[in-house]
Amino acid sequence: MRAPRGTQDILPGTSEKWQFVEKKLIDLCRRYNYKEIRTPIFEHTELFQRGVGDSTDIVQKEMYTFEDRGGRSVTLRPEGTASTVRSFVQNKLFGLPNQPTKLFYIGPMFRYERPQQGRLRQFVQFGIEAMGSEDPAIDAEVMALAMNSYKELGLNSLTLVINSLGDKESRQNHKEALISHFTPYREELCSDCQVRLEQNPLRVLDCKKDKDHPAMKTAPSILEYLNEESLEYFEKVKAFLDLMEIDYVVDPNLVRGLDYYNHTAFEIMSNAEGFGAITTLSGGGRYNGLVEEIGGPQTSGIGFAMSIERLLMALEAENIKLPIEETLDCYVVAMGEKAEQEAVRLTYQLRQSGIQVEKDYLQRRMKGQFKSADRLKAKYVIVIGDNELENNAATMKDMNSGEQKEIKLNEITDYLRDKLAGGKVI
Ligand code: HAM
Repeated sequence: MRAPRGTQDILPGTSEKWQFVEKKLIDLCRRYNYKEIRTPIFEHTELFQRGVGDSTDIVQKEMYTFEDRGGRSVTLRPEGTASTVRSFVQNKLFGLPNQPTKLFYIGPMFRYERPQQGRLRQFVQFGIEAMGSEDPAIDAEVMALAMNSYKELGLNSLTLVINSLGDKESRQNHKEALISHFTPYREELCSDCQVRLEQNPLRVLDCKKDKDHPAMKTAPSILEYLNEESLEYFEKVKAFLDLMEIDYVVDPNLVRGLDYYNHTAFEIMSNAEGFGAITTLSGGGRYNGLVEEIGGPQTSGIGFAMSIERLLMALEAENIKLPIEETLDCYVVAMGEKAEQEAVRLTYQLRQSGIQVEKDYLQRRMKGQFKSADRLKAKYVIVIGDNELENNAATMKDMNSGEQKEIKLNEITDYLRDKLAGGKVI
């Protein structure tokens, strides 16, 4: 039996990297005051149809949708924003005194895409959402957090690409311009784009099949259609980024793959050589209007998400080793039946006091137990033999210096704790 295509097992050796990265991201959220939200892995299908948008590839082609035994259509979440907004509305978080509501999540998402490097059918997204503020400073804050989640792990080859999709009016004008621009070429576009041209012409700009069509290059840019208010908003967002000295590139062709965006849209790309064909590390933007769409009061929002898989790929491409120390505090070696009993008791006692301990469970000889301790990179080995037991003692060996010393059993925990905390030398 094999795991389904587009999924992966994360095994020891790699899972430590995940833990390290997740801990870093959670700490970053603490500093920016984003609190964790955990929502269900499946939702009513309608949430994503309304939230992510009917004309998107995600809703049209990529959702894991099924009927449950009660005949309801449910979907494994393809992203985290719609669920977060649903929960924000359902739990009336907009009524809490502390606004904006700033949330983060880390969890598996599911999209039926063609798997390739950096593209999975189950992947883990870390994302943040800030709801209830239309201050351009919070757009800049979200991008600052997004960029720093990579920079603080040591990544350098990054580009923050930003664009403005404007407000409703600007987008409507742009939409009309796109329709007039592409209609003469309608027959030359792929069948998906012919539908997109009617449903949501912005999506045409994002088409992978038609990306080399000459009409793409001359397509009207949204930036030319921004009304005064939208332009001013975009200018303020950029000014805040400048204040924080966060570099960015404006790309008027950046359109995101989800329907809920307006005003700020951004992606972070990796420029690292060998990163692979997909260079987007993360993406996000503003979604004023989504909360109402899901049934809540008029509330603006902005957020972004990244997959941990692509983050780890970028670390590899930039050859960054995470400071993960694979060691063991202590290994208890026992010889003889009585000693074995004492080893079980002592191992338990040491673990209870917070020390990381392993012992043998395969009846290895002394040499084998030491080998095992070496493999696990044990800092200390405690040897219990019948002789030592007669003295109510055990021998403690410092595996680094090779020094050893006999220590009374009732003193051993405190002694080892001192040593591990950097105390006296044996
Ligand atoms: P998205 O651009 O669809 O946006 O996905 C965000 C990130 O999720 C991508 O940049 C990528 O890192 C990761 N990702 C997406 N699909 C896959 C996949 N098949 N395999 C591996 N990684 C993947 C959203 O999902 C929005 N909810 C982001 C957002 C939050 N906008 C506002 N708030």
